[in-house]
Amino acid sequence: MFITSKIRYYFVFVVLVSILFNCKDDTEENPVNPAYVNFSIYLNDPEFQELKIPGNYAFVRVGGASLVIYRVTIDEFVAFDRMCTYEAKPDILVVSDSSTVMVRCPECESKFILVDGSPQEGPAKYMLRPYNVTYDGGDYIHVSN
Ligand code: FES
Repeated sequence: MFITSKIRYYFVFVVLVSILFNCKDDTEENPVNPAYVNFSIYLNDPEFQELKIPGNYAFVRVGGASLVIYRVTIDEFVAFDRMCTYEAKPDILVVSDSSTVMVRCPECESKFILVDGSPQEGPAKYMLRPYNVTYDGGDYIHVSN
């Protein structure tokens, strides 16, 4: 009887330890640290012609940050850091994909959908780092943290 009870405790201990070490750490965060961004884009600037039409995107480099801005609808824009979230190397930026709604990492081939920045293919498991975008309803968008 005593031995059976000891075995039971041992079994429970082993199960608890294996759960403890196999659980995914929910406190893990996006490995791409946010850059400080605070700038406006004039949509009539020829450099940003693509952003006049929903479903298009443009790459923007401001200070030390590289972003991709995507026009989701006529009045909604989103912005993401171009740093791939798989290894989060500052020199590896997502590039255009053959799809118009995705960008891809040239190193690991992770693909991210621009509507919400979520990973769709490849080893990356975190979404692209998002930034806030406000639209004045006219010719300007403002991107900030
Ligand atoms: S960043 Fe090195 S793999 Fe995508």
